[in-house]
Amino acid sequence: MKDFRTWSKIVLKGIAPLVGAVITVAAFAAFSFTASGHATKEAAPISGVRVPPGYRDWKLISVAHEEGNLNDLRAILGNDIAIKAYRSGKLPFPDGTIIARLAWTHVPSEENNRAFGRIQSFVTGSGTNIQFMVKDARKYAATGGWGYAQFKDGKPADEGLHKTCFPCHEPAKSRDFVFTQYAP
Ligand code: HEC
Repeated sequence: MKDFRTWSKIVLKGIAPLVGAVITVAAFAAFSFTASGHATKEAAPISGVRVPPGYRDWKLISVAHEEGNLNDLRAILGNDIAIKAYRSGKLPFPDGTIIARLAWTHVPSEENNRAFGRIQSFVTGSGTNIQFMVKDARKYAATGGWGYAQFKDGKPADEGLHKTCFPCHEPAKSRDFVFTQYAP
């Protein structure tokens, strides 16, 4: 007759490899998930900046509307370092600052117009592209301390386009190459 201890030893011996196998499978699944997650997060040319995780939940700096070819609605968001710097009004922005510019097409809203009783409403349509400026004074010394990146559907724009970012931001040099001011 086997006593309880012997039985539990036998049971544990049987379970241990099973538990091991389950852990191995779970770890492998987690690894391949991260690996594929990274694969879709390509780095932008020149700066090597990738889409920063969680950017959609960052705080609002301001909004803007561009007419002409862009004809968009845009929101400018900042990570915590950016928001702190904006609120303190101290320049230059510290390393680690990231400013995001999201943009959508500018489309009329029939539903809103009906509610207002006249044609006056425009809302966001589909996303056009997202842009980021990442501050690292040493790494990006050649481009004013900022790494520039533009993505559409997770894919970075080409190198030619990325060469246009810094020169066009030069006029905002007195505000550390950032045009957008904190909306009151
Ligand atoms: C033709 C000039 C021009 C080019 C090229 C340009 N920008 Fe800008 N950018 C601006 C202006 C002007 C603003 C502010 C107006 C606005 O937000 O609509 C701005 C705003 C931004 C902002 C919000 C912070 C700020 O400075 O106001 C980011 C981020 C940004 N641009 C990133 C980029 C990236 C990345 C590229 C290159 C892929 C780029 N820009 C190319 C002119 C330019």
